[in-house]
Amino acid sequence: MAKMVRVGQRAGARHGGPHAMAPRPRRGPFSGRNHHFQSHYSQAGTRTTRTSVMCAVMGESEQKELKRGIATFYDESSTLWEEIWGEHMHHGYYDETAKLTIEGHRQAQVEMIDKVLEWAGVSLESLRPEQARVVDVGCGVGGSTRHIVSKFAMSYGCGITLSPYQARRAGEITSQDAGIPPESVVEFKVEDALNQPFEDDSFDLVWSLESGEHMPDKERFVKELARVCKPGGRIILVTWCHRVLEEGETDLSAYERVLLNLINRAYFLPRWVSVQDYVELCEAEGLRGVRTDDWSARVAPFWTAVLKTAATWRGLRGLLRSGAKTARGAAVMPLMRLGFASGTIKFNLLTCTKPEK
Ligand SMILES: C[S@@+](CC[C@H](N)C(=O)[O-])C[C@H]1O[C@@H](n2cnc3c(N)ncnc32)[C@H](O)[C@@H]1O
Repeated sequence: MAKMVRVGQRAGARHGGPHAMAPRPRRGPFSGRNHHFQSHYSQAGTRTTRTSVMCAVMGESEQKELKRGIATFYDESSTLWEEIWGEHMHHGYYDETAKLTIEGHRQAQVEMIDKVLEWAGVSLESLRPEQARVVDVGCGVGGSTRHIVSKFAMSYGCGITLSPYQARRAGEITSQDAGIPPESVVEFKVEDALNQPFEDDSFDLVWSLESGEHMPDKERFVKELARVCKPGGRIILVTWCHRVLEEGETDLSAYERVLLNLINRAYFLPRWVSVQDYVELCEAEGLRGVRTDDWSARVAPFWTAVLKTAATWRGLRGLLRSGAKTARGAAVMPLMRLGFASGTIKFNLLTCTKPEK
């Protein structure tokens, strides 16, 4: 039987089931309390408590504007990224054996997926692969979706992205990927992570690699990850965070806030949170066994390498072709390097499970 590849419809269109027609209502003790801190998404304020994370949520129209920006940014920049870096749009994992050639960097990106899965304890045995289903939340062009489905011979993988270009391209690459088991179904949809088109309890593995930083409502994001996860299933979130504040600190320094604001404008990011904020949100959702890690040191060579490739003739020509948003993204790359070097930006991992009913 031929493997099945589908590419889904635009955000806003919905599938069947109880979540089909309307945005999901807000639930939980903080419902409706999120509007007294409506700031533009370029603000980079920081909070350490759950209430404060909620306070940092934007208004609906600002969220829509942000999501439009994210979609256009990835529509415009993904071709160039793929030409140079390949199908994975995330940091590489660098150990002492990593080679700093372009092939080495691509290998480090695949290594990142494998190391994260290993760190989270995901294995063939833990997944019962013949039934296993994975959702890749913020999938890019589907690099992780394909890798995970192939690695564990999963029966179903679905990637969601805001970018129509990415969903289409993910489908194209998948249709030519001989590594995907013929009986597996892999599909991609243009859908919003904050309003996912899936039934409750749908996936054994809920995977989000470097998309969480784009989410303008972190509580809603975590609620959706938890909702679509099967009881007993695992959630893995790898995302950019700001450092955890020290005892007595109420915010990042003014310098750090300026740094993050500049990055936010270029990469279409809302306010940042710390990994501790995510822990609190997961625990409030009743998720179990929450574990985190900081792999900032493991990704250290990445931005220098991206900067180098951008500065080549091919990179510069591609930047010119890809439009203003991509060029602005390239211009702030040194700030990402600075953010990591100064300890303001962290590359954090979080995993947890949804309790059995
Ligand atoms: C840096 S890329 C990472 C892509 C992919 N995870 C990878 O590692 O190759 C960020 C992705 O997050 C997606 N994204 C951001 N906000 C989203 C949202 N609200 N809903 C769905 N996808 C979103 C973008 O469309 C993009 O595909």
